[in-house]
Amino acid sequence: MMIRITVFEAREDEAPYFNRLADECGIDISCHPEKLSTSNLKLAEGSSAISILGQSYLDADLLQKLKQSGIDFISTRTVGYNHIDLKAAKETGIRISNAFYDPNGVADYTVMLILMSLRKYKQAMWRANVNDYSLFGLQGKEMRNLTIGIVGTGNIGAQVVENLSGFGCRLIASSNRINEKINDQVQYMPLDQLYAEADVISYHVPLLESTYRMVCKASLDKMKKGVILINCSRGELMNFSDVIDAIENHKIGAMALDVFENESGIYHLDRRTDIISNRDMAYIRQFPNVIMTQHIAFYTDTAVATMVECGIKSLVSFLTTGTSDREIS
Ligand code: COI
Repeated sequence: MMIRITVFEAREDEAPYFNRLADECGIDISCHPEKLSTSNLKLAEGSSAISILGQSYLDADLLQKLKQSGIDFISTRTVGYNHIDLKAAKETGIRISNAFYDPNGVADYTVMLILMSLRKYKQAMWRANVNDYSLFGLQGKEMRNLTIGIVGTGNIGAQVVENLSGFGCRLIASSNRINEKINDQVQYMPLDQLYAEADVISYHVPLLESTYRMVCKASLDKMKKGVILINCSRGELMNFSDVIDAIENHKIGAMALDVFENESGIYHLDRRTDIISNRDMAYIRQFPNVIMTQHIAFYTDTAVATMVECGIKSLVSFLTTGTSDREIS
């Protein structure tokens, strides 16, 4: 019987890759733009595997219903998997895989956000749009005079270190594990020391219980006055109430966020004419020293191709061999 995979959160730009993989693997792939929820489970009827992105929240109830409707394998076409209750998946017997993509896209984007923050580009752009070409308040800083702190040196954090190594800045890092690839380019230290020494701090850790709201009053108090914070990881790393206080009292000098708490249902959608109820998001966006983008650091041609390929091939592997090297255990 032909393998049938149902894809949720399918975007148009992913379609050519799905079509190519359907031909290459000789399988049937049916794509739906909706995120997966209990109300649209029916779309997966006849499939034994599904693929999602990061906006489909798989809790115990949904996983149970999926299992009952014959789903044994799920791939998330994302690197992060904080939207899936892995414990519940294990209990229901559904096997999960995630995607891998080269860290360069997110790392490049991180460097762009650091530079935009240092050179106050948001304000410069606003002004130029209304023919205000004044210099007042736009003086920036040079990378070579700064200490940049990288929190988390897995694939992405390490690539950020590599990217920054040509700028002449001092590079410091704090991570659970020393990454040998970059050990000669960066000085590892405890997180509190990094907080005390860094002019710019960029977060590259996954969202876990231990990292949830790690940017909070207690950690902000340990940082330098005027610190620049960059987050291309997950919004939930930050306690936004404390972050707002720290912007208002000038502890945070600038911030660039590609992610935000409760961004699901907002980012990657056209919500132009809707009432959006994420007050912190709206409030933080208005600060002249805060840049916010809509979770697009990952979004490159190369990364999308790899995300789709990982998402489909891991399911084909599960279905044909019983294993996948992308399985999250
Ligand atoms: C990931 O791959 O984990 C991402 O952050 C990108 C995704 C939400 C589309």
